[in-house]
Amino acid sequence: MKNLHVAIAGATGAVGVEMIRTLEKRRFPVSRLTLLASSRSIGKRLLFHGEQIPVQELREDSFQDVDVALFSAGAGASKKFAPFAVQAGAVVVDNSSAFRMDGEVPLVIPEINGNDIRKNRGIVANPNCTTAIALMALHPLHKAFGVRRVFAASYQAVSGTGAQAIEELRTQVADTVAERPFSPKVYPHPIAFNVIPHVDVFLENGYTKEEMKMQNEGRRILHLPEFKASVTCVRVPVYRAHSVAINAEFERPVSIEEALEALRAAPGLKVVDDPANAQYPMPVNVAGRDDCEVGRVRLDCALENGLAFWVAGDQLLKGAALNAVQIAELL
Ligand code: A2P
Repeated sequence: MKNLHVAIAGATGAVGVEMIRTLEKRRFPVSRLTLLASSRSIGKRLLFHGEQIPVQELREDSFQDVDVALFSAGAGASKKFAPFAVQAGAVVVDNSSAFRMDGEVPLVIPEINGNDIRKNRGIVANPNCTTAIALMALHPLHKAFGVRRVFAASYQAVSGTGAQAIEELRTQVADTVAERPFSPKVYPHPIAFNVIPHVDVFLENGYTKEEMKMQNEGRRILHLPEFKASVTCVRVPVYRAHSVAINAEFERPVSIEEALEALRAAPGLKVVDDPANAQYPMPVNVAGRDDCEVGRVRLDCALENGLAFWVAGDQLLKGAALNAVQIAELL
């Protein structure tokens, strides 16, 4: 592969910084790296392979000679600027929700539907982080037994909201312990020593937009238009890594042995399932790791052909930066 000119839009954000690290770690063939953010970040410098790279303002003319543009600056910035990147000849990998439901734009998890990339017309979308982590475990089970529907609850880390939410949790924990008053800014309620069953905006059906992503994006990624997912998304006081409790119902009879075999063979997934020795996936163990972990696999006692399991993954990596760079590698 020839060396490429890569641009990162949203380079100063929680995901942007991980994109830089992931390019380094995976030795992506970069000839030049252009870092883009809002005008607030002009003057900042970020390290790439030991070199200080200045951050520039994201503008319509930022993409001259760019081969690959990784976008993680929010849906508004993607809608506004991604078309200019495509026009300039770049392939865009977009981490926002801007194009995920656009039939012309492939929505891709390389381990699951990498072939869909071939249909791209300049933009490939990266799925929602909670959906990506859940599907890493659900897809191998789907291949083994044919999934019909899932019920799930997520336990989502604050870094999914962005850098300012990490700061909010840190200061609120200190304020709460010191019994100092504070007023929440990022979330509508305190996130320290609390859980908030509210991620993203509420829709008319009573679910949030985030909750419906597992069904809507899952259908596209699994190529399963009838797939159903009833999800409750919860923000928890964890810095990094999302977890999801899933109850899945399948077409065919299931067994634990076959389920574990399918999960063990899945790329990007590690089975951690030894309850007797208190071994199961947890955010503290997957934070900073590329692989997602699955455990607590058991026959669901309330569903026919059902399995209950628990999956955890670093949403900044598999849920965002790593998946985006893996897509760029395929491209
Ligand atoms: P900046 O740091 O200059 O505000 P996070 O999700 O961690 O909050 O990060 C969001 C990223 O997207 C940051 O790099 C932020 O830049 C960038 N960003 C947000 N809105 C825009 C915009 N309208 N134009 C360019 N960059 C943006």
